[in-house]
Amino acid sequence: MSDWYKEMSFYQIWIRSFADGNDDGIGDLYGVYDKLPYIKKLGVDGIWFSPIYPSPNADFGYDISDYRDIHPDYGTLDQFKKVLNKAHELGLKVIMDLVVNHTSDEHPWFIESRKGKDNPYSDYYIWRDKPNNWNSLFEGKAWEYDESRGQYYLHIFAKKQPDLNMDNPKVREEVKGIMRFWLDMGVDGFREDVINFISKKEGLPNGVPFLPAVNGMPHYKDGPHIHEYMAEFRKVCQEYDCFQIGEGPMTTVRSAMKYLTGQTKSLDMMFSFDHMMADCLYTEYVHRPFSLLKFKKALSKWQYALDGKGWNALYLENHDHPRVISRYGSRHFWRESGTCLAMSYLFLQGTPFIYQGQEIGMMNISLPSINHYVDVSSITNYHTYHLKEDPERRLHRIHLSSRDSARTPMQWDASANSGFSKCKPWFYVNPNYKRVNVEAEKKDPDSILNFYRKALRLRKSSKTLLHGTYHEHFPKDPNIFMYERCLDDESYLIICSFSRLPVRVRLPEKFKGKTGTLVLSNYPGKNKDQGRLSEQIEERLNEMEHKAGMFRPYEARVYRFKD
Ligand code: NOJ
Repeated sequence: MSDWYKEMSFYQIWIRSFADGNDDGIGDLYGVYDKLPYIKKLGVDGIWFSPIYPSPNADFGYDISDYRDIHPDYGTLDQFKKVLNKAHELGLKVIMDLVVNHTSDEHPWFIESRKGKDNPYSDYYIWRDKPNNWNSLFEGKAWEYDESRGQYYLHIFAKKQPDLNMDNPKVREEVKGIMRFWLDMGVDGFREDVINFISKKEGLPNGVPFLPAVNGMPHYKDGPHIHEYMAEFRKVCQEYDCFQIGEGPMTTVRSAMKYLTGQTKSLDMMFSFDHMMADCLYTEYVHRPFSLLKFKKALSKWQYALDGKGWNALYLENHDHPRVISRYGSRHFWRESGTCLAMSYLFLQGTPFIYQGQEIGMMNISLPSINHYVDVSSITNYHTYHLKEDPERRLHRIHLSSRDSARTPMQWDASANSGFSKCKPWFYVNPNYKRVNVEAEKKDPDSILNFYRKALRLRKSSKTLLHGTYHEHFPKDPNIFMYERCLDDESYLIICSFSRLPVRVRLPEKFKGKTGTLVLSNYPGKNKDQGRLSEQIEERLNEMEHKAGMFRPYEARVYRFKD
């Protein structure tokens, strides 16, 4: 399989909140079609669609009731084909979300399966007379009693998301059929949802008492047959020039390597979570201030481990995490921290993913009560954890952690409904939309949006930034994230200050006395031409040491050195 994905970057669309093209308050494929030029202009090379299939939306698309169609809220298969063709014309690849750990309980397979043990779909799901002690990740116990069948079914996520029985060869054939359906239509690959959970341990033994929600995880993460099943799916992809990225909740480098390398290689990349825990374990349990040391440690661990062996998936946001400026940056230094965060990950070794709205610095929303939230996990968490605290404090935890913050309508302009729709959007628009929006940022040469465009252009223009080795400098520095990318006689030094105060930056020994060119900066020079940011500024590195050795809050720079 070719590795075209290594030089790419992706834009993730969570369609319901992206752009409403038919004026019903819900994002759709008509809106996506209109915005394809915008996506292209950002400088990415592909789109990942979070699920756009029919779904009762208990988990907003991750509960699928038909794998081979489009949700009527979002359009039709014909409209999807138009989007796909247009994307391809623009040189954008398109990958779909493959959610096969579970379906919706409204999927015809489940409707049949619950009818009885002699139904042809009986073994499509995991049924037991007696539940074990596992808890679900989203809604209480992992087992739900079904009256009509007279048994319990397993759901690792919400009650309306019954787990498929992947040990049943018929289910695996169904998955392959679904893959072929979309690949035959011309899609370029899949993002595979919680793919390391699909094989469960025989006998489904009781879980260990640990954090309650994950007590069963040792028995369903990287289960006994996972690599056999993954190999079957890989084979389908090998018939096409297709690419696969898996989502690996709680995955470790060691287990990820089995998916990414060697005989068991079944994925091109895996989304790992270590670097998303730099402020907490899971935000709903314990929330701590962001720690740059944790963030750097996690990133470096994956960079070093995969170098020359696997390939990293780089991301800071998606539809499951609160907005990164609100988590790891600062709203007081919105532009600076938004661009600094961009710089901290876009030049690592791997393929970057940018989530809708991240490129304009969208931030968390604080809704006035839990009743305003719609995400199943936020609602459960509010009613499950920290019950002794007063409601305000618990609501504050939801403000910090809810996935709904990533799911507010995209902020296109300063007009009503943030230009997302002509009528009332299905969900609340962040009140900051008059300041934080695409139109305003297009016009501002120093905006977060224009910074992303520039940074992506720079990444793409350099073999060193794409393929060079990674080395971190001063890993113990609590304020500065400094890393180097190196290929042949060329190096790039990326320096990001995460401090809210000015800090002095030391230079690594190997760069002392050498001359570097500043190729990107998030603090535009005062006298430079508008519209031509700091790529234009040539600064001497030794000047930086003396004068500009102080980095301003969240200042970030990229220097290029040539021997
Ligand atoms: C991971 C998805 O990203 C998330 O949105 C979803 O809720 C769970 N998997 C369950 O499908």
